[in-house]
Amino acid sequence: MTIAIEQPQICVNNGAEEKISGDPKELVLDGGFSVPETNAFGQTFRDYEAESERRKTVEEFYRMNHIHQSYDFVKKMRGEYGKLDRCEMSIWESIELLNEFVDESDPDLDEPQIEHLLQTAEAIRKDYPNEDWLHLTGLIHDLGKVLLHPSFGQLPQWAVVGDTFPVGCAFDECNVHHKFFEGNPDYYNPTYNTKFGVYSQGCGLDNVLMSWGHDDYMYLVAKENKTALPSAALFIIRYHSFYPLHRFGAYEHLMNEEDKENLKWLHVFNKYDLYSKSKVRIDVEKVKPYYISLIEKVIIVLSI
Ligand SMILES: [Fe+2]
Ligand SMILES: [Fe+2]
Repeated sequence: MTIAIEQPQICVNNGAEEKISGDPKELVLDGGFSVPETNAFGQTFRDYEAESERRKTVEEFYRMNHIHQSYDFVKKMRGEYGKLDRCEMSIWESIELLNEFVDESDPDLDEPQIEHLLQTAEAIRKDYPNEDWLHLTGLIHDLGKVLLHPSFGQLPQWAVVGDTFPVGCAFDECNVHHKFFEGNPDYYNPTYNTKFGVYSQGCGLDNVLMSWGHDDYMYLVAKENKTALPSAALFIIRYHSFYPLHRFGAYEHLMNEEDKENLKWLHVFNKYDLYSKSKVRIDVEKVKPYYISLIEKVIIVLSI
């Protein structure tokens, strides 16, 4: 089936289009879904400098990530995992598989992944009740994190999670912990260290290799399984951790017209991905039938 979507009629300000409610400690998203101003550790979201028990872990994570995510590494991983020959499983099975992991790159979250997926999807559903494709995107956007599981190679966290960025061209300075790229072999390679590198103006992000992780993997899975997800959903899945683009506007010179349209939806989505990482609890059994019905509309079983 095809899902019809309309472009959002909103004004987006670097993905942070929040309104302050009567209570200044509360943020209100588009349709009135209230979320706390702080994360599970009592700090503002994505504050990488905050003194916290996780700060050192996050920093070490990005050191490893920036050293190892090179053009050759990404090509190798895409070749290997793009075969999608590991197993077949339902969406709900893969959600349950994720439940044992905590994302080390994330300074905001210490909840099991299923909570995050359902919090994101439910917050979107409340504010955008007619965009069922976006609810489903919320539910599945992080499923690529199964790469952490032994059945999927048990990849280290630096090869699965964290902010993503293009490889094959210069690492933009707005990448978090940019200094660690000095340990990446591409940093000194003249083929890869210029503004365009191996790409060209407006070439389209589809033609750009992104650092390897759960985003690109789930994008490959959704695309190659010929799911009926719209292009905006695939865009959200592939670039939702691409903070240099959707927060800072870096790498825009690589986008084509379709990317620019889809970016509007990614800005909408990102607020929910970020701010739903709170202590809002979801009754899984209560909402499960709704999501199962959505899954059955566009995806049956995934080869992954
Ligand atoms: Fe993610
Ligand atoms: Fe997420």
